[in-house]
Amino acid sequence: MIPSPFKYGKLVDKSHFVNREKELALLHHNFNSGLNTILISPRRWGKSSLVKIAAESFAQNTDVRFCFIDMFNIRSKEAFYETFTREVLKVSYSKWEERMEKAKEFFKHLIPKFTMGNDPNADFSLTFDWHEASINPSEILNLPETIAKAKGIKIVVCIDEFQNIAFLKNHIDFQKKLRAHWQQHQIASYCLYGSKRHMMTELFERKAMPFYKFGDVLFLKKINTGHWVDYIVTQFRMTYKKIHIDDAAYLVELVDNHSYFVQQLSNMAWFLTDNICNKAIINDALFDLMNQYDLMYQKDVDGLSNSQLRFLRAVVKGEKQFSSKATIDAYNLGSSANVARVKKALESKEIVDVYRHSINFVDPLFRRWFEYYYSEK
Ligand SMILES: Nc1ncnc2c1ncn2[C@@H]1O[C@H](COP(=O)(O)OP(=O)(O)O)[C@@H](O)[C@H]1O
Ligand SMILES: [Mg+2]
Repeated sequence: MIPSPFKYGKLVDKSHFVNREKELALLHHNFNSGLNTILISPRRWGKSSLVKIAAESFAQNTDVRFCFIDMFNIRSKEAFYETFTREVLKVSYSKWEERMEKAKEFFKHLIPKFTMGNDPNADFSLTFDWHEASINPSEILNLPETIAKAKGIKIVVCIDEFQNIAFLKNHIDFQKKLRAHWQQHQIASYCLYGSKRHMMTELFERKAMPFYKFGDVLFLKKINTGHWVDYIVTQFRMTYKKIHIDDAAYLVELVDNHSYFVQQLSNMAWFLTDNICNKAIINDALFDLMNQYDLMYQKDVDGLSNSQLRFLRAVVKGEKQFSSKATIDAYNLGSSANVARVKKALESKEIVDVYRHSINFVDPLFRRWFEYYYSEK
């Protein structure tokens, strides 16, 4: 059996990576110049994949090290300091003996205590005197710059799901500390990325916030239909199946060019195709996917109020002027104050994404599902 030529649910590798030429060029430029980058988009549009591919394709012939930290599970400053120190040491020195030795050299005030796992080269943890670390974390936060200078290498620290910083205690003070150190760094640079547009925007675009103007802010866009179509047609062809470009475009637009769902729907359509794919097969594939998510979507809908449901109906129908009297009357939305409230609630539930006044479903498959089961009620 031929394996599926589509990938989702994992970071994509080069052979499944579509376009992003401009973003790659900008990231490479910033990596090369020691400039910081902030990358923002809703979940599953392709931030993590982009940074990974950018790092892989950059690292080949320069002595730059990429250190990856995922804040998804980091819920305390201690955990952050630990992960940060461990990952920076890990990418800078490959042998654990050397890491310990260098740690002794670079930490004069805070002394890390190491615990080794079965394979100490891959697996170790460390702790500090947390009281001391909270008073003066400079040795930790300056570590990338200290090592970069000592070793004559560049270090790029990539931090994923950065918006989770807002879940830490006294997070504004904590952000101030990070910023105060990192902005001094000449050789080490930072690539911070995350979803939840309103949280990320809050962190980086408000003047009063510590990370304001820390680096280039890049709002990742969706990949356009043309690039997706080329990819889908090629992937079918390489596995001895066919799809017409118009049908590939139909598929892409069914899920609103959303990276994850384009790959997932393509996979399902490919799976249902014997030789040549067509619209009927694509519709079946969409239906199969909607069924997979049925329970989850039903639960989401059960958690919505009636005015939230009515608002979503208006979105599905393509309404644009949500606060106009005509829309409010047609969908029974009460008042424009109520519309604003509903919009905010749906945004914080991550059902809709508001971007430059346009309102979209975060999950395009949910949009289709909702349209199918709920739009007429
Ligand atoms: N450039 C791309 N080309 C092809 N597929 C992509 C691309 N970017 C993302 N994807 C698809 O979307 C999924 C989610 O991407 P990911 O990088 O995890 O997004 P994010 O970090 O924004 O949540 C991937 O598993 C892959 O299927
Ligand atoms: Mg990600």
